[in-house]
Amino acid sequence: MRDAAPTTIYLKDYTPFGYVVDSVHLTFDLEPHSTRVTSRIAFAPNTETTDRSFFLHGEQLKLISAKIDGIAISPTVTEQGLSCDVPNAPFTWETVVEIDPANNTALEGLYMSNGMYCTQCEAEGFRKITFYPDRPDVMAVFTVRINGPHPVLLSNGNPVDAGPHWAEWHDPWPKPAYLFALVAGELLAHSSTFTTVSGKHVDLNLYVRPGDEGKCAFGMEALKKSMIWDEQVYGREYDLDVFNIVAVDDFNMGAMENKGLNVFNSSCVLASPETSTDDNFERIEAIIAHEYFHNWTGNRITCRDWFQLCLKEGLTVFRDSQFTSDLRSAPVKRIRDVIDLRGRQFAEDNGPLSHPVRPESFQEINNFYTATVYEKGAEVIGMLKRLVGDAAYCEAVDLYFARHDGQACTIEDWLKVFEDTTGRDLTQFKRWYSQAGTPRVNVTEDWTDGTYTLTFTQSTPATPGQPHKDPRVIPIAVGLLGSNGDEVRKTEMLELTEASQSFSFDGLSSRPTPSILREFSAPVILERDSTNAERAFLLAHDTDPFNRWEAGNALAKDARLNMIIKGAAPDADYLDALQKLVRDDDLDPGFRALVLQPPSASDLAQTLFENEHAPDPQAIYDASETMAQTLAQTLADSLPRLYAATTVEGPYQPDAVGASNRMLNFRMLALLSRLDGGDQAAQQFASADNMTLQYAALVCLLSIDKGAEQNQAFFYQWKDDRLVMDKWFAAQVAFATPEKTAAIAATLTQHPLFDMKNPNRFRAVMGALAMNHAGFHHISGDAYSLLADWLIKLDPLNPQTTARMCSAFQTWKRYDADRQALIKIQLDRIAATPDLSRDTTEMITRIRE
Ligand code: PHE
Ligand code: ZN
Repeated sequence: MRDAAPTTIYLKDYTPFGYVVDSVHLTFDLEPHSTRVTSRIAFAPNTETTDRSFFLHGEQLKLISAKIDGIAISPTVTEQGLSCDVPNAPFTWETVVEIDPANNTALEGLYMSNGMYCTQCEAEGFRKITFYPDRPDVMAVFTVRINGPHPVLLSNGNPVDAGPHWAEWHDPWPKPAYLFALVAGELLAHSSTFTTVSGKHVDLNLYVRPGDEGKCAFGMEALKKSMIWDEQVYGREYDLDVFNIVAVDDFNMGAMENKGLNVFNSSCVLASPETSTDDNFERIEAIIAHEYFHNWTGNRITCRDWFQLCLKEGLTVFRDSQFTSDLRSAPVKRIRDVIDLRGRQFAEDNGPLSHPVRPESFQEINNFYTATVYEKGAEVIGMLKRLVGDAAYCEAVDLYFARHDGQACTIEDWLKVFEDTTGRDLTQFKRWYSQAGTPRVNVTEDWTDGTYTLTFTQSTPATPGQPHKDPRVIPIAVGLLGSNGDEVRKTEMLELTEASQSFSFDGLSSRPTPSILREFSAPVILERDSTNAERAFLLAHDTDPFNRWEAGNALAKDARLNMIIKGAAPDADYLDALQKLVRDDDLDPGFRALVLQPPSASDLAQTLFENEHAPDPQAIYDASETMAQTLAQTLADSLPRLYAATTVEGPYQPDAVGASNRMLNFRMLALLSRLDGGDQAAQQFASADNMTLQYAALVCLLSIDKGAEQNQAFFYQWKDDRLVMDKWFAAQVAFATPEKTAAIAATLTQHPLFDMKNPNRFRAVMGALAMNHAGFHHISGDAYSLLADWLIKLDPLNPQTTARMCSAFQTWKRYDADRQALIKIQLDRIAATPDLSRDTTEMITRIRE
């Protein structure tokens, strides 16, 4: 049975549900093809509304029986749910339904993964488990009984009692249905304990499949660090007797913050030195923190409706980035976040999928778990904090927790606590939530009679459904540097509120060099005429590490753009600046690695497009290759020394300092490989005792079209490790040369270990295909049609993952007419597929417009 005709849901149509739920009792009798779910729900009329229509969501449920106050009834059931007449007074609702977890390949609702039962209910999956008002503003206390033969039977909250083949759980905290979870299987626990600030004892368990016990220690430590951090920085204490995490192999997303029972994609929690890279460790630490932090920002205070998704996600991403900054290097974290924001969110915000941080309509909410809601949502909170200051931010957030604990809230509630604590009017600031598109901020400067003036002009291009944009409040952090590099004006937070506005600085003895948008104080595109000399100066002297990197990044991009547009040779000033920087051993190696990291092809493509050049992916690739080769030759003398100096001695530790050294070590190896044909990389591959070094060596070899032997050795070494195999599948596609990319991906889809039903494996191949810019956009069009073939195949099985991957095509209008025509054929073909899911239909329709 497929979805009914799509309907659009609007924020402006919100109305509360006519009934409140006092308690929910659920009983699960687990059977792979015929699980019975018995529900007993205490409803009462909601005094906040007079609407008494009674509709319960329910999809793909077989109704066995329904009763009101013990009397059997026959409700009207459709594909979307059930309605019937109910008393205008409190009543008890009871149903029995049957579901088929073993055939649930969409991985939403109750499903099976390697013999284990598992649930995913956000956003609207609970309606595939039983009939219920499946909306986040209906919060209730749940008691759950699970009957099943499995040794581990878990649900939310605290364990009440258990016997052979059953367990009962009670969650005292009222919650929306999307936070419900159930897990049953033959799992092993990695256990520990935590004592909260007020002395409460909490049992911590990380449940995994037998064989994965050795990959739990790091995640457990990350959890404890998160718990301490949230107590110390936000004053938030944990509120149950147990905190359980389960790792599951088949999962559409990264992880899920179900109350007291987080479910994780195994790739986002399992780690060991032999199988995980430094980047994996850092990401796992951040995701564990993210899900844990949701306990307050998401669970104790949840969203009134799904339009408010950024209320929990923007804030929680912001909190996890603060956590990573505190535990590791703050500048490195900020630079990486901005690279990611520009790569994913700017691409989204400047194309057909552009939508506000708080969307105003949707067809399928799963399509709005986006970089805009998450990452731009986090940037908006960062701006708010910069505007009100650190102390006021803390005061406002304390008020948010005090005022709204136990409620389902809106962005208006969030902004109100800031208005109430600071007295500020945030009406204009709120445009950040309602207006889509990335603002362009143009800056010009003037130096007259000892006064230095910066004039900013802001504008935002039209986005789908929003032709006109009003000026926003943009915090612009500015510092001024003297000619010897000293700071003549410390960082000041300018508030741009007009379409055009000037700011003056007096009492300067000579014309300063400005450092603008320090720390990337707002998610905008800054346009400013600058010279290479000025950029080199900032790269050498800026006291703001982000802008120091930004100056290098601007040089790096310009040098490549000049090669692409003008056929210029690699820029000598740029090479010279890099040479100085690389040799500066006072600088953090991680920071140096980031300056050496080439700008991504898709970033260059976006910039070319903004400057009215249709990007030629092959030309971008060629320029980047030539630049890498020239850079290797220029730095030839320093490479062996720095490679040796950044080789970390002793057993591998996933700590920040080691990781920072290995980042630079990897850059050195990548450049060395261009001079020695991969000899050093082959040696590193052979001697590596950890995945960071082994994988780095493999990537260096594949990038120069070598490493067939190592690739095979890697396969035989790791073929029984699912997560490492994902890396193996992905690397071959991601680092293939443009003309071979599609063919390699096509061959890998025929590999015995390729499994389209497993989202990690599907993404390893198809995600890597979309990310290999020149390979994906190869003029043969082979990669376009290969991706479309597989999206069409996956859609009936897993609409959510299919729809998300359609975004590979979102930038199609950047490219030349030939490529646009090739992509259009594929978009049309997907759109014409019979019974296409609502998820994919919405995505393809928006992308095609
Ligand atoms: N709420 C999850 C998070 O951000 C993401 C998620 C959404 C997971 C939908 C599964 C399904 O932490
Ligand atoms: Zn989240």
